[in-house]
Amino acid sequence: MAKIVIEKSVPLKGAVRISGAKNSALPLMAASLLSGERSVLHNVPRLRDVDTMKEIMEEIGAKIKREGDSFLIDTGNIHSIEAPYELVRKMRASILLLGPLLARCGRARISLPGGCAIGERPINLHLNALSSMGAEISLENGYINARAKRLKGAEIFFDIPTVTGTENTMMAACLAEGKTIIKNAAKEPEIADLADMLREMGADIEGDGTDKITIYGVKELRGAEHRIIPDRIEAGTFMIASVMTRGEVEIRECIPEHLGALIEKLEKVGAEIRVKKDSIFVKGPDVIKSVDIKTMPFPGFPTDLQAQFMAMMCIADGCSVIKETIFENRFMHVGELRRMGADIEVNGSQAIVKGKKHLLAAPVMATDLRASACLVLAGLVAEGGRTEVHRIYHLDRGYEMMENKFASLGAKIWRES
Ligand code: EPU
Repeated sequence: MAKIVIEKSVPLKGAVRISGAKNSALPLMAASLLSGERSVLHNVPRLRDVDTMKEIMEEIGAKIKREGDSFLIDTGNIHSIEAPYELVRKMRASILLLGPLLARCGRARISLPGGCAIGERPINLHLNALSSMGAEISLENGYINARAKRLKGAEIFFDIPTVTGTENTMMAACLAEGKTIIKNAAKEPEIADLADMLREMGADIEGDGTDKITIYGVKELRGAEHRIIPDRIEAGTFMIASVMTRGEVEIRECIPEHLGALIEKLEKVGAEIRVKKDSIFVKGPDVIKSVDIKTMPFPGFPTDLQAQFMAMMCIADGCSVIKETIFENRFMHVGELRRMGADIEVNGSQAIVKGKKHLLAAPVMATDLRASACLVLAGLVAEGGRTEVHRIYHLDRGYEMMENKFASLGAKIWRES
């Protein structure tokens, strides 16, 4: 099986271009199902999760052609409403097909995603929202069966601001009869990106980016042409890498406003940050200071950068407290970081990281997507030989050519079979 091999690297130097956001690409692909006309997506990242979504959509009748960085999506002939277990188990985000299929076809049958390495991750809020809109939902043999002749607008309150739950509800509400209001909606930039595409398709949506989103249902939607926003988590990962290696890296083609919480923390760590319209320059300090973080929904510190930040705190001067509030089991990387010499104590949802002068190279195992990125970052600064990161299929789910991008900044990193 393929692995990534890393040797202690010189300070990273140069510029890196950020790819399209995975967590926008997936809902935007699903949204194209709401119309029978052709849609075009630009800046589509080459990722395993995107391939999985493509495969499921092709299975139900969509025709998707890649041309460079673009996807041409023809949804004129949807002949199935089922997302099967064999594909859904590869990627939880397949649940994003539920809202669009139900709204467009009146029926959907989606395998229940089940838990995953970072937590139980229920979908009760997605199902409650669609039920409030009049869908009949039953669970049968591990599948969600949903039916509704035409969904009806409703007032929906989410107990927790769920990202994909907000997206599913927004997509379904676009073709519902009447007005839907989502309260305590997620405010992540990917929600606003989806709303932009839906508006291009003819939807009537207000309030995206705030915690109250209003959707006025329309009878039909048309195809759209849309450019996916840059991946703020990929950008954040490279920013942290620049700090860890005491590098000087320009992060190009990103949206700095999407990275406010990280920028503030990196400044406290001692980094020099210069923000331009669509780029961020990050210079690492000689001494990395310990800083505490608490993960929160946007615009708070993203859970998807918690593991990478922890890798940085392992070599910081002092002690840092890392609190994970979004997922109950997102410290799987701790055991692997300890194998590299890190001093981390976990107590429930809180980790206390005592910074050390060095991490030590070791073979380690990736457990999920962001944990893999954290181990690669640790490998860039680890002393005493080669760090080998195994199970990198997790990494390929969400990072486009990560090792090539790091190598272009001067890192000693390569992939081996
Ligand atoms: N939750 C419920 N019930 C639900 C839905 C969510 O209790 O019906 C809980 C979850 O268990 C969690 C919290 O609500 O404790 C927030 O979860 P959310 O639904 O927002 O997560 P998600 O939509 O499943 C997306 C991203 C994740 C990212 C989270 C949080 C996509 C495809 N995935 O997941 O991305 O961590 O939001 O920002 O957008 C990743 O890219 O590595 C990744 C895991």
